[in-house]
Amino acid sequence: MANDTALFFGQFVRSPGTTGAVAPSSLRLARAICAPVPERGDPVVVELGPGTGVFTGEIQRRLGGRGHHLAVEINPRLATLLSDRHPGAKVVVDDAAKLPQILARHGLERADVVVSGLPWAAFPSELQERLLRAIIGVLAPQGAFTTFAYVHARTLPPAVRFRRRLSDLFEEVVAGRTVWGNVPPAFVYNARRPRP
Ligand SMILES: C[S@@+](CC[C@H](N)C(=O)[O-])C[C@H]1O[C@@H](n2cnc3c(N)ncnc32)[C@H](O)[C@@H]1O
Repeated sequence: MANDTALFFGQFVRSPGTTGAVAPSSLRLARAICAPVPERGDPVVVELGPGTGVFTGEIQRRLGGRGHHLAVEINPRLATLLSDRHPGAKVVVDDAAKLPQILARHGLERADVVVSGLPWAAFPSELQERLLRAIIGVLAPQGAFTTFAYVHARTLPPAVRFRRRLSDLFEEVVAGRTVWGNVPPAFVYNARRPRP
C-alpha cells in the first residue's frame, strides 16, 4: 500500500538502524517466510519486527483463527497501526530480545514457529547474539525459525556473521530462492532444530 510505504520510509528516516529497510516487504516474500506456519492445530507463532504487517496478515491467514499469534514490535507508532489492522494478533510493544519474558507474561511456554522481520544486517554483533539467544530460548525442539536477508547485502560482514551464527545454533539452515519481486530482492532462511 502506498500509505504504508510512506509511513515506513518516514520511520526509516527517523530510525534507520532499527527500521533497517526503506519499504515494507512484498506479499511474495511474506508467503515464503510464513510457509512453516502450520495450517492445522493450535500452534504458537511469534513474529518479530512486524512493521506495517505484511507478514502479520499472511500468518493470520494461515492460522485462520486457530492458535496464538504474538507480534513483537519495538516501534510504538507501527505497533498501534498493526493492532488496529490485525485484531487477531496480540501486538506487544517491546524489544524482541526480551522474548522469554514476553512469552511468560502471556502464559506461553514455547513457540512452534518464530517468523522474524528484524533487520539483522543493520545490527551490531552483540545485539544479533542477544536476539538469537532469546529466540533459541523460546523455540520448541521441533520448532522452525524463519527470517530474511537482502541479496545485495549478503556479503557484508554483519550478514555473513549472522549466517554463520545461524549454522552454529541450528542443525538445519536452508536458504530459499531469491524473491526478485521484493524491493530490494531478498531470500528467506529457514532454520530448524535448535542445537541443545
Ligand atoms: C526491516 S523492518 C521489517 C518490517 C516487516 N516485517 C516487513 O518485512 O515489511 C524491521 C522491523 O523490526 C522492528 N524492530 C527492530 N528492532 C526490533 C526489536 N529489537 N524488537 C522488536 N522489533 C524490532 C522495526 O521497528 C521494524 O518494524
